[in-house]
Order: sequence, then C-alpha cells, then structure tokens
Amino acid sequence: MRSLDASLHGSIEAAAKALKQGNLVVFPTETVYGIGADALNSGGVKRIYQVKNRPLDHPLIVHISSILKMNDWATKIPDYAYDLARDFWPGPMTLVLNRSELAEDFVTGNQNTVAIRVPAHPVALGLLIEFESLGGLGIAAPSANKFGALSPTNALDVKEELGDLLNQNDLILVEAQCSIGIESTIIDCTQKKPLILRPGAVTEELIIGTLGHKMSHKVKSKIRAPGTLQTHYSPKTKVTINSNPKKDEGFIALSSITTPKEAIRLIAPENIQAFANQLYAALRKADHLNLKSVSIIPPEGNGIAVAIRDRIDRMVTNHFEI
Ligand code: TXA
Ligand code: MG
Repeated sequence: MRSLDASLHGSIEAAAKALKQGNLVVFPTETVYGIGADALNSGGVKRIYQVKNRPLDHPLIVHISSILKMNDWATKIPDYAYDLARDFWPGPMTLVLNRSELAEDFVTGNQNTVAIRVPAHPVALGLLIEFESLGGLGIAAPSANKFGALSPTNALDVKEELGDLLNQNDLILVEAQCSIGIESTIIDCTQKKPLILRPGAVTEELIIGTLGHKMSHKVKSKIRAPGTLQTHYSPKTKVTINSNPKKDEGFIALSSITTPKEAIRLIAPENIQAFANQLYAALRKADHLNLKSVSIIPPEGNGIAVAIRDRIDRMVTNHFEI
C-alpha cells in the first residue's frame, strides 16, 4: 500500500489510474474516508468486501461527479429526487434509486436499487473527474473501516484500520480531518415520498425546506439498508448513555457540560457540528487507552444532533446484544 499526499501534483492522477487498473483507493470525503473501486469492475469491488470483511449482500454507494451522471446509474427517478440532488449535491447525501443496467449485482448486493452520491470534498470530486476522464463511470465506496467498526475520519485512523489489509498497488490519498465526521444521509427515493434510511448532515428540516412537504415516516422500508443494522458504528470500548462515569472511565459531552470527578474527558466540542466531527476519533482514542467504558451525553435537539444520537444509540445497542 502506498499513501500519497492528496494535495501534491500527480496524486489524484495516480489514484484514478490505480482505480482504472482494478486496484483500491482510499480517499477522503467531507463525511468520512471511503475505500473505493471502479464500480464496473467486479474483481475490484469484490476486494472491497474482502478487505472490509463485509457480507456480500451489503450494497455499496456509487460515487459520481455530478447530477448529470445520475441517469447512467438509475432509472424511473422521481421529481423529488432531482430536487434533492439539485439542492444538496455535491454534499453529504446518498439517494437510493431504482438501478439501471450499469449497476450490477456485485455493487447493489442483488437488490434492484442503487445508492448514489456526489461528494463535496475537493479530493473526492477531483478523483471522480479524473477517473471519468479515463473512461470510468463511478466509484463504488463504502466507509474505510472493517465491517461494523467506526468509520475513519482522518488518514491515521484509515491506516490503523485497513493499512495491513491493502496490497502494494492500492493507494491511500492522505488529507486532513473530514469536515463533517459522520456518514451521509441516506434517502430512499423509490416510493411516492422520500424516506430517511440513515440520518446525516442533510437533515430532515433541510429536506423539508427543499420539498415543502414531510416525508414518509414508516418505521419499515421495503429497502434493506444494512448500515442501519443495530450492530454498526461501534468502538471496542463499551459505550453508555447519560450515565455517571466512574473513576478512569471516559466521558464525552458538549463543552458546556462539566466533567464528572475522576472521569477522563475525551473531547469537549463547543457545538453539534464539532461533536459530529470529533466523535469517532474520540472513541478510537478510548480504544487505544483501553478504557473500560465511555459515557456519552448525546446532544439534544434537531439538525445533525439527530444523526449523532442515531450513531450513539447503535453503539449502545451493540453492547446490549453481546
Ligand atoms: O458518507 C458516506 O455515505 C460514506 C462515504 C464514503 O461516501 N459511505 C458510507 O458507505 O457510509 P457505507 O457502505 O459504509 O454505508 C452505506 C450504507 C450501507 O448501510 C448500505 O447498506 C446502504 O448505504 N446502501 C447502499 N446501497 C443501498 C441500496 N441500494 N439500498 C439501501 N441501502 C443501501
Ligand atoms: Mg460504513
């Protein structure tokens, strides 16, 4: 595995070439790091599953460079999906649509739908544009973590997570910390009304602002979104919510909340954006410190706080299940 500074001349070109040759490229997006392969190359895509140890029926997001490429990968696209794409792409939003023939079973996990996103990060976008100039049509990329683990939000965490599992032709594009820090909002766009499958930085309020009407609130979608399984996004350290940490246990809360006596303060973000941005790295730190447990006081309210609570709830549920 080679790692290249994404800002250096030639790095993006080298990465696009590596993808075209069927190799894997880990790249930053504004949400979390992704591990990408040519979405049309079954061998490359299969390696993503091997490296992550991800079950084959868990579909991948196809990343494209612009809304204009949406029709390549999807059919029967509802008007509201175009409205969302116009307002939030490039950005932290993934749309699940009926797939076109381009989206093969090895990308969609045998489903008739495909997940598509135009990322806003300049390195991700640059890579997509360069890849398309070589004849590529899309980059299939899940988050760059082992199955069920926390998504990496900086290059060091990527290397720790997957470094040993990549081969000498694979590349890591190294950049600064991802600005948002939690995964994109996933919206099911295969029904009359949109349905949020995974909350993220494109919030329900923002979506209503665009569409002017509420979305579906069915608890169950016909769509399978395995990322919404309750065993996802978990550190090794046990997580508890709103509990009083004992001596030497970890503590995560907004900066306005004081640290309980003898607890180890991992982060003190000043607002919900900073909370999202710092959460995963803080939990990796808890793993490194071998803490027995971490108590998190989740932020209240709307906006990205909804997505933060969603991820924290999953971490706790995971430990209840074990
Ligand atoms: O922010 C993000 O979305 C990051 C960056 C790299 O783009 N990607 C990401 O990918 O989080 P991943 O694979 O870790 O999570 C994508 C989720 C998975 O839970 C997957 O099951 C769901 O999207 N998904 C993918 N295709 C789907 C489909 N056709 N129908 C329903 N869910 C789908
Ligand atoms: Mg993931």
